[in-house]
Amino acid sequence: MIIGLLNQKGGVGKTTIAVNLAASLARAGARVLLIDADPQGSALDWAAAREGEPLFAVVGLPRATVHKEIGTIGQGYDHIIVDGPPRVTDLARSAIMASDVVLIPVQPSPYDIWAAGEVVKLIDEARVYKESLKSVFVVNRKIANTAIARDVDEALASYPVPALVNRITQRVIFAEAAAQGKAVHEIDADGPAAAEIEAVKAELMEIMQ
Ligand SMILES: Nc1ncnc2c1ncn2[C@@H]1O[C@H](COP(=O)(O)OP(=O)(O)OP(=O)(O)O)[C@@H](O)[C@H]1O
Ligand SMILES: [Mg+2]
Repeated sequence: MIIGLLNQKGGVGKTTIAVNLAASLARAGARVLLIDADPQGSALDWAAAREGEPLFAVVGLPRATVHKEIGTIGQGYDHIIVDGPPRVTDLARSAIMASDVVLIPVQPSPYDIWAAGEVVKLIDEARVYKESLKSVFVVNRKIANTAIARDVDEALASYPVPALVNRITQRVIFAEAAAQGKAVHEIDADGPAAAEIEAVKAELMEIMQ
């Protein structure tokens, strides 16, 4: 399966979710490739910060030809994660076209959710060429022990795109793990952050069945 992490808005958690999802899939025994399609190269930085054995392969491909090259580059992998760029439309479009499913991280504020209109539009345009393309929101940086405000649910419901039931909480461990080029499960295997990543992965797999 090819999972694209896209949102034209910056800093919503595309890279954080991309590396942890890739790690979670690899941990379960899959052969995983992470394509860094962002000129910022954050996923490559993550891999460079890592000491010791890589969990999965990471390649940089910040080009508008990802969708054409992915067939060749992705050979031999069970799952491919594409970490998309913020803002750059032609790169985002190519990353979307490369994906089987686009996971759109959004922070739990109506402004952030409205800002996702841009990527939802790009996905709609891509569907003209790729009818089977799926998309789903994932709420990231939820504040622990709070219900999601009703206005957040309403903003999500204003799109014809479903949202995952499982959400990811704001937790320092995500930033700490990133600084060491690690996945959260490597720091706290039984902790809540790793459990949320597992739950998001499981829900995504179920949707794609
Ligand atoms: N659930 C979380 N809890 C705590 N910190 C988080 C969480 N998700 C992301 N962050 C932090 O927020 C910042 C932005 O996250 P990240 O780089 O994953 O976003 P991005 O969408 O890839 O950004 P860009 O658009 O620049 O590529 C990072 O410092 C990251 O460590
Ligand atoms: Mg990023």
